[in-house]
Amino acid sequence: MRVVILKNAEQISCRAADVFGQLIQARPAAVLGLATGGTPLGTYRELIRRYRAGEISFSQVTTFNLDEYVGLPRDHSQSYHTFMHENLFSQADFDTDNCHLPDGSCVDPAQAGVDYEQKIAAAGGIDLQLLGIGTDGHIAFNEPGSSLASRTRLKALTEQTRSDNARFFESIDEVPRLAITMGIGSILDTQRIVLLANGAGKADAVQALVEGPVTAQVPASALQLHPHVTILLDEAAATKL
Ligand code: GLP
Repeated sequence: MRVVILKNAEQISCRAADVFGQLIQARPAAVLGLATGGTPLGTYRELIRRYRAGEISFSQVTTFNLDEYVGLPRDHSQSYHTFMHENLFSQADFDTDNCHLPDGSCVDPAQAGVDYEQKIAAAGGIDLQLLGIGTDGHIAFNEPGSSLASRTRLKALTEQTRSDNARFFESIDEVPRLAITMGIGSILDTQRIVLLANGAGKADAVQALVEGPVTAQVPASALQLHPHVTILLDEAAATKL
């Protein structure tokens, strides 16, 4: 695990965009694993800037997002489908037929999880996975207690995650209680991982991820088992290391 401490969120975004840029240059049809939340937004803005400057093209990539809320229609303003289309896919030359998210409005979430895993396998697996981290140490929506071998499945959100994410909704009552998420096992199968964290609010989770024991109580700690992980932190998120 490589831990890189940078000055601020802007530097994190540029460094993450460099990793994506280098991969796409070497492999234009790369399979990218993408994340939602506030943290990756700077990286997406930087990738869009590089696309507009003619430095990078996404026309051949395939993407898989980590997770999606269950119970929101796809076109709901806070669905991760909408988030990705607004903040990335519609702003560059992605072929949206090749941009995938779990189907949170399906009738059979268990089957949707199996189908999603099959789609990832059919694409040849994920070359590069972008991750954030929840204040409770979750990755994607793998909440504390998730099996380290878990695959894409239905997961109940903790009250902490619902309250952390309530800022995107009118009130906490509107935050869904369930999500379909790639599992920890699915994430560990990816070739390379870049996890981003900034701000003092992430310092405890980052400390547990990097220095704590590998435990299902801190899902991100499972990344210690992966051979090719880079953790990009700002100084505030690194204060407890
Ligand atoms: C959500 C997402 C995670 C993300 C986390 C942190 O719960 N499912 O993938 O890492 O939020 O979000 P933020 O970057 O907004 O702090």
